[in-house]
Amino acid sequence: MTKTAPVSDARPITEEADFLQIKSIDHVHFYVGNAKHAMYYWWKGFGFQPVAYAGLETKNRDFASYVLKSGQIRFVVSAPYGPTSELAAHHMVHGDGVKIIAMEVDDVEKAWKATTERGGKSAWSPREEKDEHGIYRTSAIYTYGETIHMFVDRSDYNGPFAPGYKSMERQAESAGLAAVDHMVGNVQLGKMNQWVNFYHQVMGFRQLLAFDDKDISTEYSALMSKVMQNGNGRVKFPINEPAEGKKKSQIEEYLDYYLTPGVQHIAMATGDIIGTVEELKRRGIEFLRVPDTYYEALPDRVGAIKEDLQAIHDLGILVDRDDEGYLLQIFSKPIQDRPTMFIEVIQRRGAKGFGKGNFRALFESIEAEQEKRGNL
Ligand code: FE2
Repeated sequence: MTKTAPVSDARPITEEADFLQIKSIDHVHFYVGNAKHAMYYWWKGFGFQPVAYAGLETKNRDFASYVLKSGQIRFVVSAPYGPTSELAAHHMVHGDGVKIIAMEVDDVEKAWKATTERGGKSAWSPREEKDEHGIYRTSAIYTYGETIHMFVDRSDYNGPFAPGYKSMERQAESAGLAAVDHMVGNVQLGKMNQWVNFYHQVMGFRQLLAFDDKDISTEYSALMSKVMQNGNGRVKFPINEPAEGKKKSQIEEYLDYYLTPGVQHIAMATGDIIGTVEELKRRGIEFLRVPDTYYEALPDRVGAIKEDLQAIHDLGILVDRDDEGYLLQIFSKPIQDRPTMFIEVIQRRGAKGFGKGNFRALFESIEAEQEKRGNL
């Protein structure tokens, strides 16, 4: 196995190397079985505000779709009306999951040309959709599995989301989720470096960190991970692959149920993780728990932190420290029936890492869940 961790390539990315000039993650689009239920889950469970809708009432005969926002995060959930669409086929194979990660750029034509010339596989060539709110421009390429990276330019568009959507007025009680911190992809054994190269060569990303199976292993299972980051640092895509262990890696379990590589988790940032997690738990969101012994060792491991340690312990929040500060994080159980995607809530207090010091305790609690599912 590789002995690379942790590796950081901290050289600034030149404008030429950062040819995509991605501004931010525009939205994450989930294909689901019942968009109305998914909308309600993000709305009432995670405190997202429904802001736009498309469906039969907006003359969309193919699928129902809701757009929700929390802080800068925008999620779209869509479900098919019938069995024959690409959306229906995707849902049949994968269950609920992320289909499109959309990124905002200035020029979708340039982004599509640059990425496809560098070997990216086109999902669709640059297109313009128009309605009374203006022109919505997109293009897209495939990434791992059947997942798509869409480029979007909404500089000439001022509608509620995209042509075909009407605005939807619903009040929401925010849980404090403010931005997408990172989104992780799971790929097959031996494929991590291929996808690391894809993000480097096709999209101009740089490797921020690497973790090998020494960093991320328990007695039973292991995985390896490399973190890719875009030029301005706002987009971080870690890539995981399973590593050989005595029992089944959590990444293999994911692949067994999603059936192809796909998005494993979305980490969302909050400025007050204690308030956010209290609120999410009150609303019934289920989180993984590490053993109480984790909290006995915590003060020695991370030193002084601003948060109340008892509250951290009671809520099951994890803490890790690196050279630049510390971070607090917590992981949900899978958010759909299949043990595939889950959610991370993260608060950074200076630290730029991903919680390496928590990997072991965390993965032991994931394995306890795998065992309950008969999948270890
Ligand atoms: Fe994460």
